[in-house]
Amino acid sequence: MNKMRSVFVAIIFSCMPLFLPSSSNALENSECMDCHGDSSLVRTNSQGIKNSLFVEGKGFQYSIHNINGITCIDCHADVTELAMDQEVPHSLTLGAVNCAGCHEEEAVEYGKGVHQQASSKGLTIQCYACHGYHDVVSSGNLPVLERENKSCLKCHEPAKFHNWLPQKETHFTFVQCTACHAPDTPHRIHLRFYDLAKKNFLQPEAVLSALGTDFDGFLAKFDEDGKTDDLNAEEFDNMVFALNRRGLRASFHAELVSERDPRIHQITKVAAKRTCEDCHAPDSKFFESVALYFVDRDGEAHQYAVDRKVLESYSVNNFYVPGGSRMRQLDRFGILAVAGAGVGIMLHLLGRAVTAPLRKRRKESATHGDEA
Ligand code: HEC
Ligand code: HEC
Ligand code: HEC
Ligand code: HEC
Ligand code: HEC
Ligand code: HEC
Ligand code: HEC
Repeated sequence: MNKMRSVFVAIIFSCMPLFLPSSSNALENSECMDCHGDSSLVRTNSQGIKNSLFVEGKGFQYSIHNINGITCIDCHADVTELAMDQEVPHSLTLGAVNCAGCHEEEAVEYGKGVHQQASSKGLTIQCYACHGYHDVVSSGNLPVLERENKSCLKCHEPAKFHNWLPQKETHFTFVQCTACHAPDTPHRIHLRFYDLAKKNFLQPEAVLSALGTDFDGFLAKFDEDGKTDDLNAEEFDNMVFALNRRGLRASFHAELVSERDPRIHQITKVAAKRTCEDCHAPDSKFFESVALYFVDRDGEAHQYAVDRKVLESYSVNNFYVPGGSRMRQLDRFGILAVAGAGVGIMLHLLGRAVTAPLRKRRKESATHGDEA
């Protein structure tokens, strides 16, 4: 359809005098990148501050948007034509990109959360304060801590509060902030292999090769009753024994993650979860699904449902018992290193995010200044 139309448009314009700006609905990314792919392209405002106009091609290439065929002008929708005889071939004051135009549900849920509400205090926190824009990638397969680093920890220092919560660092490493702060979002438990002897997370490939199977064969190998498509507690234990026999002293960490769901944006302080038994109880209603979670070398996730009873097993170190044996081990292992990460960066980004509209206005007046 679009192609047809642009061919049509092209025919019309080819019959017109050459000095008319060429116009087409199908501006290619490469046309923009002819200029914006140049790392020296900067704009200097009236205060002499330089703003880069460079778009990093690789980051964009691997972004979820590019992969899904979203182009520059799908987001920068007010660039409808390029007047290539001008130094700046499009309007100097482009409108803000409207993420909500394509992500309506997320925007509605976001409106119910604390960040949108901060606008009553004059703070604007844009979608891209958490997500970025030219390099948005799916964080679905990342461990909890990496997800948080990419979003919440840019601005918040949770270790400075939550004083009612024991083992703060452990919780921030294994419980996604949104599991407590957007409690209406469905959750699940991901079990990840941990080597008690070597004290590190095991590569799934190493686990599978020790077990003499692969991603496709794993479930069939241990699902002995064959009646279900998950592992029950006994089958799970057999799998762990098989690993031990092959010299891998496997234990598991339980990560509590939020599902990919627009409600994740309903971030709240007042309704945040804090009751220990919500999670540390065998019959917790708070999460219903438990899965073994393997992320392979290519970053692809493979998951195998397991009966939630395995959370009571020795291999999972009595997840249900707050203060169980795991506590002391974690301290010794020293994987408690969340606090204090990049405070400078946080403040910087916070500053940028909340002053974005201001800078935009400044930029605009600066460009008007340049014109005069
Ligand atoms: C001939 C070079 C050139 C091409 C081609 C070009 N741009 Fe630009 N663009 C510029 C320059 C120069 C500026 C800075 C203008 C200024 O000084 O305010 C700019 C600024 C921008 C801005 C920032 C505007 C703002 O208000 O912050 C965006 C966004 C942008 N361009 C998008 C695009 C897109 C999308 C395309 C392709 C459809 C494109 N550009 C093609 C030269 C170009
Ligand atoms: C997913 C939406 C999206 C896509 C796709 C996108 N942009 Fe942007 N772009 C933004 C946002 C958001 C901003 C910053 C704030 C604003 O302008 O609203 C921005 C800013 C810019 C800027 C100003 C400099 C900067 O980095 O802040 C330029 C130049 C630009 N984009 C060019 C491009 C080009 C060229 C492409 C295609 C290769 C592209 N954009 C694709 C969303 C997008
Ligand atoms: C305070 C940080 C934050 C802000 C601001 C934010 N998001 Fe999100 N968003 C998240 C988190 C966290 C996830 C879940 C992904 C993950 O686990 O890392 C997510 C997931 C998403 C997803 C994929 C999941 C889904 O719902 O399909 C989309 C799309 C999305 N956000 C769009 C938006 C849009 C549009 C806005 C602005 C209206 C926005 N986000 C603002 C934190 C934020
Ligand atoms: C022109 C439509 C369009 C616009 C505008 C747009 N997106 Fe997207 N976005 C998509 C499509 C298509 C996908 C891929 C399918 C999906 O995951 O929903 C996507 C996916 C996403 C995801 C999901 C990543 C994941 O976890 O899978 C996030 C986050 C996201 N966009 C954020 C943004 C932000 C932030 C903006 C504004 C800067 C924005 N989008 C603007 C179309 C758009
Ligand atoms: C761009 C910076 C930024 C990012 C990223 C960010 N926040 Fe915030 N957050 C703020 C600001 C600013 C406020 C408003 C503070 C206020 O209202 O005084 C806030 C408020 C909150 C509050 C309410 C605090 C209160 O005192 O009422 C919670 C809870 C919260 N954020 C959690 C999160 C979570 C969880 C994430 C990650 C998904 C996140 N934030 C990402 C900047 C950010
Ligand atoms: C186990 C549940 C839980 C986890 C995990 C959690 N929080 Fe909280 N958080 C709460 C509760 C409950 C409150 C409100 C009581 C309080 O102030 O401590 C709170 C308060 C906050 C506040 C407001 C602090 C203030 O100034 O009053 C922010 C901001 C916040 N959390 C951010 C985060 C971030 C970021 C993460 C992830 C790194 C996170 N939280 C992880 C339960 C949690
Ligand atoms: C939102 C769910 C959630 C809440 C609420 C919660 N925890 Fe946890 N807790 C977890 C997860 C997940 C882990 C990490 C388990 C792992 O490493 O395998 C954890 C780990 C722990 C640990 C580390 C030792 C061990 O056995 O693994 C202790 C101690 C603990 N929690 C106590 C508490 C106490 C006390 C409260 C109430 C003040 C509480 N938790 C609230 C989910 C929660």
